[in-house]
Amino acid sequence: MISNIKYMAGVKSLKDIDITGKRVLIRVDFNVPMDNELNISDDRRIREAIPTINYCIDHNPCSITLVTHLGRPKGEYEERFSLKHIQKRLERLLHKKVEFVEDFEASKDEIASCSLERVFLLENIRFNKGEKSNDLEFAKKLGSICDVYVNDAFGTAHRKHASTYGITDFVETKVAGFLMKKEIEAFSKALERPTKPIALVIGGSKISSKITLLSAIMPKIDKLIIGGAMSNTFLYSLGFDMQSSLYEKEFTDIAKKVLEDAKEHSVKIYMPVDVVITDSIENPIDVQVVPVQDILEGFKAVDIGPATVKLFSEAVHLSNTIIWNGPMGIYEKSRFSRGTNRLASAIVDSYAYTVVGGGDTADAVEKAGENENFSFISTGGGASLELLEGKILAGFEKLDRKD
Ligand code: 3PG
Repeated sequence: MISNIKYMAGVKSLKDIDITGKRVLIRVDFNVPMDNELNISDDRRIREAIPTINYCIDHNPCSITLVTHLGRPKGEYEERFSLKHIQKRLERLLHKKVEFVEDFEASKDEIASCSLERVFLLENIRFNKGEKSNDLEFAKKLGSICDVYVNDAFGTAHRKHASTYGITDFVETKVAGFLMKKEIEAFSKALERPTKPIALVIGGSKISSKITLLSAIMPKIDKLIIGGAMSNTFLYSLGFDMQSSLYEKEFTDIAKKVLEDAKEHSVKIYMPVDVVITDSIENPIDVQVVPVQDILEGFKAVDIGPATVKLFSEAVHLSNTIIWNGPMGIYEKSRFSRGTNRLASAIVDSYAYTVVGGGDTADAVEKAGENENFSFISTGGGASLELLEGKILAGFEKLDRKD
């Protein structure tokens, strides 16, 4: 049986088809973070879609329609999630006028009128009730405004929505964009043809959200480096008193099983030997570094300590491929971000091939100022997690195949 990554690598790309004179619909993921004034605080996802859009512009389609969601509206208009807040940035990055379409059904004729180089941006697709429920009537309507469907929304590729999945039943030609291909290639290099040893650095808050990943990836890796609140559950399962730290008591047996599994696969495990503890996350007065066996009563572990940073750094230095998913502490608070920042620097100093899962880890790497130094940072949080879990992402499932 071929792996999920090989399966997804087998889909056709934009380069395999001719789009001359065609109405092209590109599903992008412009779900970018915004501040309270609705300024885009990180436009990486928009920038990563530019090569696909430019390629289409350069290959004489009839029209190009961009479709994306922004945030999680509940099937109706919400000002803060309108894509009019994205339009200007997109125009700046494309160096081109982008026409905003509030109601795609009313604009069908406009989109169908062949006029080279026109780029349309549809209003947030999740303002439509049929999007998230993958309503077939809605998917059909969306399919009716294009001849070619290009999915380049890797960040949303794990969703079975009308614009990422259902639409493929109503369009004859459906292919992947360059970002989708780039993401698969990066994970393929790390997992299908890696230079060993491979280290998986895993963190974040919950073991429950990463248990499938851990069991799927165990046979492929040589080292498992566990930090963040997730390591609290592992440490608790080994008998350490984690006091008021965040951990999942009910996952104690699962944590033990993961450690046994690692042993069976001869995977070396690295866990914190010291931690940063605090009396309060919001208003810390007493912050200390202590060995993991000495966490004070009422205190919470919120970051890995300096001895752990040293231990983890040595482990990554002796690796040739490193996959990182999940921060080492509450990195959003500068006082508790040192462990994550130092580990980010150690990883990029390792000369290894380094891949960062998206979401929080990508954000943490950006905050650590190391984003330029990783080999690859995924644009997908949930999507990269599901890919590492061994799943075929819905957004790839029904695209045309090369074989
Ligand atoms: C993401 O940010 O992970 C993607 O854009 C998907 O968004 P969703 O989790 O709201 O479906």
